[in-house]
Amino acid sequence: MANILVTGGAGYIGSHTAHQLIARGHNVQVADNLSRGHRHNVAPERLHVVDLADTPRLTALMREQQTDAVIHFAAYIAVGESTKVPELYFTNNVGGSLSLLNAMTEAGVRRLVFSSTAAVYGMPARVPITEDMPFEPLSPYGESKVMVEKILGWMDQFRGLRSIALRYFNACGAEPDSGLGEEHEPETHLIPLLFRAIRTGQPVTIFGDDYDTPDGTCIRDYIHVSDLADAHILAVDHLLKGGASDAFNAGTGSGFTVMEVLRAVEEVTGRKVPYSLGPRRDGDPATLVADSTKLQRTLKWTPRRSHIKAIVQDAWAFEQKRVAR
Ligand SMILES: NC(=O)c1ccc[n+]([C@@H]2O[C@H](COP(=O)([O-])OP(=O)(O)OC[C@H]3O[C@@H](n4cnc5c(N)ncnc54)[C@H](O)[C@@H]3O)[C@@H](O)[C@H]2O)c1
Repeated sequence: MANILVTGGAGYIGSHTAHQLIARGHNVQVADNLSRGHRHNVAPERLHVVDLADTPRLTALMREQQTDAVIHFAAYIAVGESTKVPELYFTNNVGGSLSLLNAMTEAGVRRLVFSSTAAVYGMPARVPITEDMPFEPLSPYGESKVMVEKILGWMDQFRGLRSIALRYFNACGAEPDSGLGEEHEPETHLIPLLFRAIRTGQPVTIFGDDYDTPDGTCIRDYIHVSDLADAHILAVDHLLKGGASDAFNAGTGSGFTVMEVLRAVEEVTGRKVPYSLGPRRDGDPATLVADSTKLQRTLKWTPRRSHIKAIVQDAWAFEQKRVAR
């Protein structure tokens, strides 16, 4: 059992990971300012409403809790928003991470799992993407994650801070039995947007149907949030056992087109999804699929629920609960 601080644990992926850590017997505390997360995702006795920028409070919290490791989810996550207000993304994602790293140094905590993203690769030269491909982000959001990964490299070399960056592809699905699921505001992710279109009757826009893919819509690698949570637990265990710093792609290795996901939603819900076709979005690659061999081999990770139908079923079950709340 370890004492683990989860930043951003009131958000989507953080809350699922915290839930699984608790189920496996870890002592979990959550630090979240609730700017984009939800109080109902965390038991009150575990929740510390604190901003990443508050270095002294984070330091005191980690000292009090004798924190062994941090899993750092807290960040702003919307690519489009980051192109409108880049300074907000650098302040929160890079500045916030630096504040956390200062607090960790003060408190003597030397293990960190970091939420990175496929957006660090930008428009990759080939797929599936391997971890040795270059950083070429196309947005301030992606750049903010590159900057933190680079800082972590220096912190490893000169501060002995061991870290694992997990570069997630498209996180989706839910754990409806534990009341957890995806509820971003603003929502930018495909499956919740398809559900919204069903609920409101307002068509969802599909951006581009002339890509070089079987049906012309973009291919993405959809990873179930439970499998992603599992990868974090393996990563933190690895570090706690003395494992070295590293970076891993977290995806399944197979992709689905937007239209395939839409059809899966129609099949699971038994409802038609109203949609309209729009132009391509700047910087959207045709295909983004992870090569996750390294994660599977090094950390012995296996995706268990990342089948598109299971993902949509879990997400839909959560959606019913959310709407009834
Ligand atoms: N959702 C995805 O598909 C996806 C893909 C790639 C990477 N990621 C990364 O995973 C992480 C979690 O994503 P998510 O989908 O759970 O997002 P989310 O918005 O649901 O959760 C982020 C949480 O961080 C909190 N937060 C933000 N800034 C904070 C600050 N300054 N201080 C304290 N708390 C703060 C928010 O209140 C929220 O609860 C993010 O770092 C994101 O960049 C997500």
